[in-house]
Amino acid sequence: MAEGDSSQLRPQFGNRLLTDPDKVFEHNAWFFKDRHWLFTEFPELLGTQVSCDHPSSHTNDTGDHGNYGGHENKHAQCATFRIFEVGCGAGNCVFPILQTSSYKELFIYCCDFAPSAVSIVKDNKMYDPSKCHVFLCDITDTPMPLPPPNSVDIVILIFVLSAISPHKMVSAVANLVAALKPGGLLLFRDYGCYDMAQLRFKPGKCLEKNFYVRGDGTRVYFFTKEEVSELFQKAGLKEEQLFVDRRLQVNRGKQLKMYRIWIQAKYRKPLLPSTS
Ligand SMILES: C[S@@+](CC[C@H](N)C(=O)[O-])C[C@H]1O[C@@H](n2cnc3c(N)ncnc32)[C@H](O)[C@@H]1O
Repeated sequence: MAEGDSSQLRPQFGNRLLTDPDKVFEHNAWFFKDRHWLFTEFPELLGTQVSCDHPSSHTNDTGDHGNYGGHENKHAQCATFRIFEVGCGAGNCVFPILQTSSYKELFIYCCDFAPSAVSIVKDNKMYDPSKCHVFLCDITDTPMPLPPPNSVDIVILIFVLSAISPHKMVSAVANLVAALKPGGLLLFRDYGCYDMAQLRFKPGKCLEKNFYVRGDGTRVYFFTKEEVSELFQKAGLKEEQLFVDRRLQVNRGKQLKMYRIWIQAKYRKPLLPSTS
């Protein structure tokens, strides 16, 4: 590297921000300043607005999860507000939530099917086994080892469903619905159809309609609003929010314009199972 060539310098410690979720495994550590949107978009994560119509969600949970045969974490059993982050990657939601939430009896389950992701989360100095439990799990496999059925207040599904083959999405969503408490909430954000990332794929990378393979072998699906709505409502959830978030991002250094399209949604598990 030429002396004084600052473009080649490593970012100063603490300044590496994850702006593209797909680059999550390119480094061992990330900082989370860019995740302020998490609480703006999903204030429920702070534990104040979940399941307000469900009397047992915050305080009086009996811990009765039916005939669950798994091994529930003892800290999770005592918690009165439980979150399950699916496809947690390097922990870009888990750690900001642990840092920000003032909710004392919070417990976060998080899983990923990549062993490297599970190790990165476990090795983070903010990982506290009394507050969270990370485990290896493919959410398309039934049954999932954790969390117990009907036990979590919130499921977080951020830029994960798009990585799953379309024909496995229904079973993945069914697993997540099973983990949610009646009255619990599923928070979703993912790629929308015609996002810049979709338009940049070269011919030959399309596996099926709106589903592509990247150079590193990972897959990505681009959703329409209608597909998201059908997927979650057919799984028995009630739609509380669904919108297409269109943004123009600019890279001033490279003079690039990036037209991003994401879909954001919130779905609630009914208190009583649907009779239809
Ligand atoms: C784009 S990253 C998003 C990570 C994180 N949710 C975030 O918002 O930064 C997608 C993650 O989902 C994980 N993933 C993909 N398919 C999965 C599956 N079937 N089961 C569990 N995790 C999966 C990947 O390993 C990866 O860590």
